Amino acid sequence: MLRTETEAAGPLTRELLARYRRDGYVLLAPDFLAEDVPAAVTSAIPSAVADDSPRRILERDGTTVRSVYGLHQTHPTIAGLARLPQLLGAVRQILGDDVYVHQSKINFKEPFSGDQWEWHQDYVYWLQNDGVQAPDLVNAAIFVDEVTEFNGPLTFVPGSHRHGLLAGQDLDGMPLGYEDAPAWVATLTANEKFRVEPAVIEDLARREGLVSPKGPAGSLLLFDPNILHSSAPNISPFRRAMLMFVYNSVSNSPRPVATPRPPFLADPDVRPLQPLSTRPPQ
Ligand code: SIN
Ligand code: MN
Repeated sequence: MLRTETEAAGPLTRELLARYRRDGYVLLAPDFLAEDVPAAVTSAIPSAVADDSPRRILERDGTTVRSVYGLHQTHPTIAGLARLPQLLGAVRQILGDDVYVHQSKINFKEPFSGDQWEWHQDYVYWLQNDGVQAPDLVNAAIFVDEVTEFNGPLTFVPGSHRHGLLAGQDLDGMPLGYEDAPAWVATLTANEKFRVEPAVIEDLARREGLVSPKGPAGSLLLFDPNILHSSAPNISPFRRAMLMFVYNSVSNSPRPVATPRPPFLADPDVRPLQPLSTRPPQ
């Protein structure tokens, strides 16, 4: 598919597409998806959090569920949501290609105990761990709860994606509290494995500013894999759950790597997704 063909064809206006390319993110109100996505996700949560498997990552406190990965592989409802026509259409428009889900997760950020995500760029993980050769991916975060300034919103340096991969350091070893976990767990905890230099973060933030997109449950936040982002701990009494799909272009399917991460972190099924023609099963 040619980029110009898909740019014209999708649900995003020319203005929204231009904003995405300029700022590295765009926030869409719940009427964009036109589905009760929070209710659909809520139906999958009890079995997702009860799944005592490596897909489930706990916070440093050892009890609170931080994330559950690969739900598009285990829950038909979530698999259906990844194929919502508006969502898939917007992502195909941005990437100018057919797409598949490279990774999915729910990040829970529980009240009082949901922990931070330090400053990072996502693409470095997909390049170095999974062999994804170009940043031709889109992050789609669907708010399952309302996101406010109090419950640990994602925070971006707008426009930082245009600087490519930033200078940083690769942290050796396992973070405190996860010493006995498999090596790949180091890529998922509150202590980022690939650290961007603080001076680089400061310089970019001074020039471009900081933004925390906020909105009601059902909002859709699309963002670039190279945007510099973080999120603070949730010390509020309100949960901040987000369902996140990482879409990759089919023409950007990963190259083999020496030590692949488990399939629930890097999906080997790279067949293009087709839009759902009916509502996802409830
Ligand atoms: C992410 O860094 O991709 C997720 C962070 C968050 O859920 O706040
Ligand atoms: Mn991230």
